[in-house]
Amino acid sequence: MCGIVGYIGHREAYPIILKGLKRLEYRGYDSAGIAIYDGNDIKLSKTKGKVADLEERLEKEISTNGTLGIGHTRWATHGVPNDVNSHPHYSNSGDLVIIHNGIIENYESLKKELIKRGYTFKSDTDTEVLVNLIEDVKKKENIKLGKAVQIALNQVVGAYAIAVFDKNKPNEIVVARLGSPLAIGVGKDEFFIASDASPFIEYTKNAIYLEDEEMAIVRRHKGVKIRKIKDDSLVAPYIQELQLNLEQIEKGGYDHFMLKEIYEQPRAILDTFRGRLLSNEGIIKMAGVEDNMKKFLNANRIVVVACGTSWHAGLVSEYIFENLARIPVEVEYASEFRYRNPVINENDVVIAISQSGETADTLAAIKLAKSKGAFVFGVCNVVGSSIARETHAGAYTHAGPEIGVASTKAFTTQITVLTLIALRLARAKGTLSSSDYRHHLIELELIPDKVKIALESDAYVKTIADIYKNAKNFLYLGRGYNFPVALEGALKLKEISYIHAEGYPAAEMKHGPIALIDENMPIVVIATKKGHYEKVVSNIQEIKSRSGKIIGIVTAGDEQVKNLADHVIEVPETIECLTPLLTTIPLQLLSYHIALMLGRNVDQPRNLAKAVTVE
Ligand code: M6R
Repeated sequence: MCGIVGYIGHREAYPIILKGLKRLEYRGYDSAGIAIYDGNDIKLSKTKGKVADLEERLEKEISTNGTLGIGHTRWATHGVPNDVNSHPHYSNSGDLVIIHNGIIENYESLKKELIKRGYTFKSDTDTEVLVNLIEDVKKKENIKLGKAVQIALNQVVGAYAIAVFDKNKPNEIVVARLGSPLAIGVGKDEFFIASDASPFIEYTKNAIYLEDEEMAIVRRHKGVKIRKIKDDSLVAPYIQELQLNLEQIEKGGYDHFMLKEIYEQPRAILDTFRGRLLSNEGIIKMAGVEDNMKKFLNANRIVVVACGTSWHAGLVSEYIFENLARIPVEVEYASEFRYRNPVINENDVVIAISQSGETADTLAAIKLAKSKGAFVFGVCNVVGSSIARETHAGAYTHAGPEIGVASTKAFTTQITVLTLIALRLARAKGTLSSSDYRHHLIELELIPDKVKIALESDAYVKTIADIYKNAKNFLYLGRGYNFPVALEGALKLKEISYIHAEGYPAAEMKHGPIALIDENMPIVVIATKKGHYEKVVSNIQEIKSRSGKIIGIVTAGDEQVKNLADHVIEVPETIECLTPLLTTIPLQLLSYHIALMLGRNVDQPRNLAKAVTVE
């Protein structure tokens, strides 16, 4: 995915766009660029690398006087990350300039046609094809930019959020979306365009979120006109008031977003059950579940679709739903599910989990499940995201913006929402007695404070990180509820430190991975008192007798594992189904510190982007 930003109004566009790009850099960071209309011409500067690299060039290359401009931060799809492939892209005449987030799937055939018509291309991107297609339509038909964009987009297959302007009409920016988000900030005599609201939150709290297949002409002084791309019908703009504030999208004194987000988890989990877990009344209330209770209760099974960390949260929920509510659960990689002709029908409930609500594979899996008649329930963090809109009903995690590419608070808040749902269903089905149910509510309510205690291990985890930072490989082992936590711990380490790591169910070790163990192999073993404790202790013995280095994640006060392991990190005691909310904390901290010690870019690890909007 990429980040796009634009401005038209009475202020200097350049600083607004530059700051906006920094805020959107989490969306992609292999190259960046800005185009400003300075009153006479377009000034464009772009470069491979981060927004900071662009900033250095900008001082020399860009006039700062213009009040109209667009900017882009890229995660490459078509064409390697280099200066030429960076956005914005000019049309052949140099009149039009465009930024684009998404993929034009039929760009090769469009390009061939344009080449036949005399167009030339500097870059390998699909975006340069699109801007020339728009120019071609505009010239052929002798029409205005807005109309040309509309006709061109009707020839395009793929996904896009675009912003384009014409230097001969410097009082408007044309924007459009299909499958990639686009928000328009509405100020007084000024408008902001961005992939999310973070670039304009300090200027206006009023925003319009374009729907798929909508385009808008954003005119200086005149406002926003929205149309459907397909049938040209006018759409009344719906201006919503944003709940976001500046503090939420800044680092707030932390060195990295990831660390801030790790430390935000007590608050985030509390926000997740605020207004839902009513402990005085002893009930859980979730509108999306209550309104669809029959669907849940009559379901033959729950099928979870998700990717990455969200898939790990789905795996935890398999244990939770099955144990508490006795509903069979299957957890699917969305990317496999969508191409597998899955057996699914109206008797299934599909739960789609996604922090961003934008993941292309998850979105496609939802559409497939819907087409087969299943009821689809979304668990998303980003309010108003594509997945939140595409699902029949859902529950937000309310974690607040997660900007670090490595998912942390999204994971624990997803588990929290899924636990609430499972408990509500368990109560409705009578699979938990009322005293067990109340006990679960009480224990859940204690989790934010217990996460705070788990975070106190930070300094000690840092010393462990220092000892093992140069290891070439790590193993993570867990059982039951904590098997997915082992997978998540390994993913966290891989993605930000680039150290190879594998997660396994502890008992599987004997079926292969045990061959890897020697004195150079650190093995993180989740061995909390509840759930298969003795079995995991046996696994630890097996590792020890092969000289592996054991880092145990244990319940506070545990002596048995302490005597066996090289290091133990304690987490507070809780009921078994809630242990993942605590055991995951030291694993997040361990990967953070190792990555930092290795000099990695923790918030923007190589090759990754925050949401994967391409398959
Ligand atoms: O936004 P989503 O939850 O749908 O994203 C899914 C994965 O791309 C995401 O969890 C990814 O694995 C993270 N980088 C993990 O930290």
